Amino acid sequence: MCGIVGYIGYEQAAPLLLSSLEKLEYRGYDSAGVCLNDGENLVVKKAKGQLKVLKELTNDGKTLKGTVGIGHTRWATHGEPSDVNAHPHLSDSERFAVVHNGIIENYIQLKEHLSAKGVAFRSKTDTEVIAQLIEYYYKGNLVDTVIKVLSKLEGSYALGVISKDNPDEIIAVRKESPLIIGLGENENYIASDVTAILAKTRKIYRLENNEIAIIKRDGVKVVDTDKEEIAKEVEIVNWDISAAEKGGYEHFMFKEIMEQPKAIRDTVAPRIKDGRVVLDEIKLTDEQLKGFNKINILACGSAYHVGVVAKYVFEKVLRKPVEVDLASEFRYRDPIIDDKTLTVVISQSGETADTKEAMKEAQRRGSHVISIVNVVGSAIATESDDVIYTWAGPEIAVATTKAYSTQLAVIYLMAIYFGDKLGTISGEDYQMYISELEQLPEKITKILENKENIQYLASQNFNSRDVFFIGRNIDYALSLEGSLKLKEISYIHSEAYAAGELKHGTISLIEQGTLVIALATHEALLGKIISNIEEVQTRGANVIGVACENHPEISNVTQSTIFLPQTCDMLLPSLAVIPLQLFAYYVASLKGCDIDKPRNLAKSVTVE
Ligand code: G6P
Repeated sequence: MCGIVGYIGYEQAAPLLLSSLEKLEYRGYDSAGVCLNDGENLVVKKAKGQLKVLKELTNDGKTLKGTVGIGHTRWATHGEPSDVNAHPHLSDSERFAVVHNGIIENYIQLKEHLSAKGVAFRSKTDTEVIAQLIEYYYKGNLVDTVIKVLSKLEGSYALGVISKDNPDEIIAVRKESPLIIGLGENENYIASDVTAILAKTRKIYRLENNEIAIIKRDGVKVVDTDKEEIAKEVEIVNWDISAAEKGGYEHFMFKEIMEQPKAIRDTVAPRIKDGRVVLDEIKLTDEQLKGFNKINILACGSAYHVGVVAKYVFEKVLRKPVEVDLASEFRYRDPIIDDKTLTVVISQSGETADTKEAMKEAQRRGSHVISIVNVVGSAIATESDDVIYTWAGPEIAVATTKAYSTQLAVIYLMAIYFGDKLGTISGEDYQMYISELEQLPEKITKILENKENIQYLASQNFNSRDVFFIGRNIDYALSLEGSLKLKEISYIHSEAYAAGELKHGTISLIEQGTLVIALATHEALLGKIISNIEEVQTRGANVIGVACENHPEISNVTQSTIFLPQTCDMLLPSLAVIPLQLFAYYVASLKGCDIDKPRNLAKSVTVE
């Protein structure tokens, strides 16, 4: 949560900082700010609201002088979104400025301590204590001071610090929150994520926990907390810059929906060689694999919904019990897991705080962790025992689409690969799964080509007050994602229900015209879901069905039906999720919602 940037070079810093911040708005967008050293003073400009407010206020940064500066886009944790609580934060006498991503857990004690010494605070944030502590301990050397201050801080942070007295230096630090250094020619950058600096450089250092970077125009030195220099390796980022641009689409979300065939192909194709699934990244021996008596899946949000699909898939194909946990719940329930449990952690960003901590808890208890992550080099990717990357490319829209789809694809690859090793999958099924998996991109393209049908259904239903998504088995797992997609971007109340469960209470909410989206792809339970659809129909519901094209009979019980190409049951969520994403998108668009930046949300949730 929150995005931070910094620039030091010979160009005017503010316009660069603002355009870098634009790429980080997915991390938070309730307020933004920049601070420049203009040669005499630290000049701060901050504004509540999305970055565009600050851009207007400063004529895209052109009104702000200085060739060194830091910037921030915020998702409020401590102190409501406001000009004063926006970062950067200045110390009392305005000699130091700080931007921060993370949480300082002991800020109240630190604030009390400094207040008792007469330090005046301006904001309600935890971050301001860092700026004030730097001033309090400063004896002429900023690096020494920052190191001293770090020893006082508890919590997580990525920090950028500049000072009034030294316009030739930015200090950057990382602990638990991500931070990279962009390396240019006579100019250098800091940023929470590579997308922010891709337009300027592809060479980066990735800071590790407790590393401190001293960034000057002509070079970067990284030291540890004893000021011992650390030899960092330059990483070359090969992301296509257009991947982080809208490329003519009105919204990132729509662009990312349309990119799904490619994202799935990029994720699957390199892992199928000569008709066999090859997951070189998994270091487990066959013996270890056979020794597991349980699979434990940990994730948050949509990644958790992938986990729920995975439960059905793994149990069916691998014949091992699977538990899926919300990462935020797992840690605190004294889970029963040990070295006989295989843990699978799913995360697009690789930095979700709850997921990361849950993973560590599983590791502490002896479990082997395989992570499924999109962001290369992120904390979960580097700290898990094995990582399988999804090759979705950067996902910018807060509501995930292509990351969800590629995570599902990896689940299928794992099921086929492990099923073969465990001997729980027949040779015939093995071939069939691979062939169907390879055909997914084409079939998704076919669904996307018919998007106008979904747009029409959205136009008929965008005024709904409540929507219910129902399904059975793997369709129920998918309904969780359909419902979340709709509510997070359109603000329509929606719920996902296992279709058989509706009659135990929730059916009392169905009235004349209530929209029910019934997922009816799971062939074995078609008769059952048809009965459930009839139950809501009888009570006045307006039903949109989602079914395979070989089951046209679903139309007999629905007002409208979205038909999907056929594939095997296990893979159907990959097809059925597409109309659900499009439906949510079109509804939100018709309601005039801010699709890429829904209210109150952030894409990367680095607080617990
Ligand atoms: C946020 C995002 C979701 C995502 C969830 C978990 O809520 O908006 O799209 O599913 O975080 O994030 P992760 O990066 O761990 O997948």
